[in-house]
Amino acid sequence: MMVNIKVNGKEYKKDVEPRMLLVSFLRDELGLTGTHIGCDTTNCGACTVLMDGKTVKSCTVLAVQANNHEITTIESNDPDLNAVKDSYVEEEGLQCGFCTPGMIMQSYYLIKNAEGDIDEDYIKKNLRGNLCRCTGYRTIIDSVKKAEEKLRQREEINVSK
Ligand code: FES
Ligand code: FES
Repeated sequence: MMVNIKVNGKEYKKDVEPRMLLVSFLRDELGLTGTHIGCDTTNCGACTVLMDGKTVKSCTVLAVQANNHEITTIESNDPDLNAVKDSYVEEEGLQCGFCTPGMIMQSYYLIKNAEGDIDEDYIKKNLRGNLCRCTGYRTIIDSVKKAEEKLRQREEINVSK
């Protein structure tokens, strides 16, 4: 089946098997291997990407379901997403890094969709679908807090321009 999917701002028209998963489309068809496959059963969140601005687990979405939709992956150069990536580096929110692309995409989403300030409970609740076997989550929570600060500062600068 022919699909037309916009990924990180670029349109891709490809002929795919109807059973192809979105994560396989991203990794195998487009070479965007930043999106990881951890469990393949919707449990770990390593494959998290944005579809039309909302997080989805791309091992649970078929490529044909993404037809005519817009996907954002960890490779995106969106300045706000880059600020979240920087926060994970600064706060050491990763060890092996396997869960990290999915964690960052989910963190970006939870910050962008928060109503008001975010607290630790909100972060934990919104990261519950993303598993990390290394960090113990403390530095991940700190990374999200740092990212929220950075995004708020960026927003204040943009408003004052
Ligand atoms: S690989 Fe998709 S949730 Fe684990
Ligand atoms: S940093 Fe290794 S699984 Fe999260």
